[in-house]
Amino acid sequence: MKETLSSARVNIRPMELRDVPRVREIDLASFSLPWPERSFRFEITENPASRLWVAEVQTPDGQHVVVGMIVMWQVLDEAHIGTFAIHPAYRRQGIGCRLLAESLLEVYEMGVCQCYLEVRRSNLAAQNLYKKFGFKITSVRNGYYRDNGEDALIMTLENINPQKLRAFLQEDDEEKGTISSGEIDHGST
Ligand SMILES: CC(C)(COP(=O)(O)OP(=O)(O)OC[C@H]1O[C@@H](n2cnc3c(N)ncnc32)[C@H](O)[C@@H]1OP(=O)(O)O)[C@@H](O)C(=O)NCCC(=O)NCCS
Repeated sequence: MKETLSSARVNIRPMELRDVPRVREIDLASFSLPWPERSFRFEITENPASRLWVAEVQTPDGQHVVVGMIVMWQVLDEAHIGTFAIHPAYRRQGIGCRLLAESLLEVYEMGVCQCYLEVRRSNLAAQNLYKKFGFKITSVRNGYYRDNGEDALIMTLENINPQKLRAFLQEDDEEKGTISSGEIDHGST
């Protein structure tokens, strides 16, 4: 069903245990090697290095729907993005950029100045997004992905610039007032 979430706003907040079923749906819809549900539970409850957020939108009938998630691990002044996805029905509306920008600002406030991640060589959508933030390809892990032997590119953002992230969020606020979904899926939230 095509529907528009008029004037919906994207809210970024910490991931909680109640989000896990919906986060798992997003993960399954986004990756050929999704995480088991227990991994999200572990990251929320047991890993002190984990930094986790979800992106939530409000539907016209007032429901809050989780549409994206990001998990980072912080080691001293470095963050590693473990997983990051937006539900397919909500992509290309700036939600991924907002989730990444807000979570980078949060970890910056916690002392992080550098961030890195692995991305499939074929995943140009994600690579384009990371390049917008200043991430650069710094090395290659040959045959890293066990499902098809694809290489992982390591992309690194050497110096997180909070002014740039704040300006980016402000610009995005001015541009976007409406979020649409090709398939409003209230899922299990
Ligand atoms: C990568 C992903 C998180 C982007 O989320 P999104 O909400 O669609 O991204 P945004 O709308 O904020 O797009 C930001 C930028 O990313 C790039 N981008 C996003 N989707 C793209 C696509 N399909 N093709 C090319 N570039 C794309 C563009 O540069 C875009 O900027 P623009 O809209 O000004 O052109 C989303 O596609 C996704 O969940 N993919 C599957 C999971 C995944 O690959 N995660 C990353 C693992 S490393």
